[in-house]
Amino acid sequence: MASFNTLDDLGDVTGKVALVRVDLNLPMKDGSATDVTRVEAVKPTILELAEKGAKVILLAHFGRPGGKRSSALSTSFVQGDVEKVLGKEIMFIPEVSGPVAEQAIGILGPGDIGLMDNVRFWPGEEANDPAFAKGIAALGDFYVNDAFSAAHRAHASTEGLAHLLPAYAGRAMEKELTALDAALGNPETPVAAVVGGAKVSTKLAVLENLVGKVQHLIIGGGMANTFLAAKGVDVGKSLCEHDLTETANKIMDEADHAGCTVHLPYDVVVAKEFAANPPSLRTCNVHEVAADEMILDVGPLAVEALGDVLKTCRTLVWNGPMGAFEIVPFDAATVALARTAAALTQEGSLVSVAGGGDTVAALAHAGVTEDVTYISTAGGAFLEWMEGKELPGVSALSK
Ligand code: 3PG
Repeated sequence: MASFNTLDDLGDVTGKVALVRVDLNLPMKDGSATDVTRVEAVKPTILELAEKGAKVILLAHFGRPGGKRSSALSTSFVQGDVEKVLGKEIMFIPEVSGPVAEQAIGILGPGDIGLMDNVRFWPGEEANDPAFAKGIAALGDFYVNDAFSAAHRAHASTEGLAHLLPAYAGRAMEKELTALDAALGNPETPVAAVVGGAKVSTKLAVLENLVGKVQHLIIGGGMANTFLAAKGVDVGKSLCEHDLTETANKIMDEADHAGCTVHLPYDVVVAKEFAANPPSLRTCNVHEVAADEMILDVGPLAVEALGDVLKTCRTLVWNGPMGAFEIVPFDAATVALARTAAALTQEGSLVSVAGGGDTVAALAHAGVTEDVTYISTAGGAFLEWMEGKELPGVSALSK
């Protein structure tokens, strides 16, 4: 792993202005956040800097306003949520540079916290415009990036600022990079990857990268149907990208050459309609799916065999559910495999790292959030990391 400065490398910061990039892109409903995990993740960094006497200025985006002010996308909407999680009042600053921001920061004392408005209100943010970044940098003494989930964006506040001020990884960023390094950068082998979700097309680059890195690739969700179809299995009415069968075969060939075993389900849970506990529900061998049936989950025999595979592994990286887990009983395979992974982690035989949108919800549904080694709250950034891409926000922090 590339080395980077952390908060341990800071000298005396009393009265200094810390520009801290955080991810406050929270899911909202009726004007308030439905999940504050991202705020909880950056709390240690913010409080540590405040305790050390810095003036902590939070920089964040919120939605995609496209370089224009939009009253519906002001970070002031999440101010209350941030205050609640931190247990402290914060000052809202309606700018990110210039005299108004400078005056506001001037009013703050050591240990106080400010929240600037949505940095994406200015076109210079997404363009990573050096002049725009300079305007922000002029307000601060040092820069801390604690937003791994925005690190796949080469924007002024995620990348540009790191070149203009002394730059440090915040505690959440540090934790994330350490966990990801243990999962794919420098893992203990054998490594298993679980990749699920609806479509192969959204995760092609992930699969191509993983076959060269892991010893076991477990494919679940709708994606598995495309691979089964590529092997000549009739998947009936199942979700399947038939135009990708050639690509699926190529991935399986690459896996063969790289010594990676691809695991596809050999029994499946099927139904004629996608509804909770439908009357047509049954479990069968993958070769027995009828023309009017859909595969909606991995079957119990395959789940047991996959659990045995995990028992032989030292590292697991997981993205995407094994079945249509939002609807009972098609959550069974995801829940069972997640619980096996959690138990092996608790026994100390497995390092388990999971991430990406649905995955967090699926593991929470399985009740194992606290029992796996690390869950990343990043969506796009986690996937780009699984694709083996360099993340500009991370590279910019490298010494
Ligand atoms: C996210 O919510 O995944 C991050 O905040 C990145 O948001 P973006 O996809 O709008 O850049």
